[in-house]
Amino acid sequence: MSNSVNYGELSRQLAALTAGVPHQTANLANAAALLWQTLPDINWAGFYLREGDILVLGPFQGKPACIEIPFGKGVCGTAAAKNETQLVPDVHAFPGHIACDSASNSEIVIPLRRKEAVWGVLDIDSPTKGRFTEHDRTGLEEFAKVLEKALFWE
Ligand code: SME
Repeated sequence: MSNSVNYGELSRQLAALTAGVPHQTANLANAAALLWQTLPDINWAGFYLREGDILVLGPFQGKPACIEIPFGKGVCGTAAAKNETQLVPDVHAFPGHIACDSASNSEIVIPLRRKEAVWGVLDIDSPTKGRFTEHDRTGLEEFAKVLEKALFWE
């Protein structure tokens, strides 16, 4: 299922959507919409953006979500604090998972970096346990790199 996603094509679509667009919110919003319309079996896709020691809800698709996540807390805060992707097959087995939507059962969170420091995270949730694979991890990490180029164009 997830292996049917052509991430090379998805990253090319993101590059086309963001080309010459010097507006971070617009680029984040279109990135969330692109993920939402392309990835099967997800119930949330969006961003949390760093403000000091917390992550604040950014553009997303899906149900209304938690607004602030402290660094180091939950899957998003762990990805941000460690500056590394968190692929969680079963969120209920993840210590400190923050349940914004009880329908979510698996999750992947990818850091967004500006000059190697964490600037925010991309968070995608699924109602299906084990939904995200290594194929998704590598594809979404590439997607995040394309997005970083669009966000930090200077
Ligand atoms: N589950 C996340 C919180 C964000 S929502 O899933 C949109 C976490 O544990 O960080």
